[in-house]
Amino acid sequence: MSVAAVVPAAGSGTRLGAALPKAFVPLAGVPIVVRAVGGLLDSGAVDEVVVAVPGDLLDRARELFVGRPVRVLAGGGERTASVRLALELLCGSHGGERPSGPAGDGPPEVVLVHDAARPLTPPALIASVVAAVRAGHPAVVPALPLADTVKQVCEGAVERTVDRSELRAVQTPQGFAYETLRRAYEKAGDSGDTATDDAGLVERLGEPVVTVPGDPAAFKVTTAWDLRIAELLLEGS
Ligand code: CTP
Ligand code: MG
Repeated sequence: MSVAAVVPAAGSGTRLGAALPKAFVPLAGVPIVVRAVGGLLDSGAVDEVVVAVPGDLLDRARELFVGRPVRVLAGGGERTASVRLALELLCGSHGGERPSGPAGDGPPEVVLVHDAARPLTPPALIASVVAAVRAGHPAVVPALPLADTVKQVCEGAVERTVDRSELRAVQTPQGFAYETLRRAYEKAGDSGDTATDDAGLVERLGEPVVTVPGDPAAFKVTTAWDLRIAELLLEGS
């Protein structure tokens, strides 16, 4: 059963505020996207990776992944557009060279979608998501309980305290039976741009999404604070 991963890395990183798009910002000397893709390949559970990057960084991205089972393409204006374009490349409807790698021809059976912005995601978490899809779950997300109390607020005023016991913070990689994710993106059309994750589009199909335990190390680098935390974690390891 072949497994491919799609890595959206085409964002600008507005909240990080660095001189480069976020995926290309060095984290302890190694670009964030290189760390994220490295984790996928190190998991031993992923055969090939397709990375969506800003169009003006295509050549730079190709250089970063020479010799690895990685293809790059220009992403879109929203995260979902970047994932959609990468999926089209994977299934061959978007042209582009096929890899000569282990995945062979045709679409993979399993596809992961993994934010470039999660550079410290443990390979064991990646393997656990793939294992859950292989076990027959068509859509799988890593999830963590919330530590903070959660309140619904309107214009600065608290409206109510939400029962957090049933809430989960969801990470990536999210894993899918390829056909399920393809249908989810097909059904979503342009309205998919309002989704903040890929499993959300499977939910719109009315199909089940299951969780596996997430990992705090899979946190998303969003702000300069997060980047600093990631640097400190690498220093301490
Ligand atoms: N992403 C993408 N294409 C876009 C927007 C986002 O591939 N048009 C990717 C980002 O590169 C990132 C992931 O989606 O790996 C999660 O998005 P986010 O953390 O929001 O990154 P940015 O959009 O780059 O950051 P910001 O929202 O602060 O600008
Ligand atoms: Mg964003």
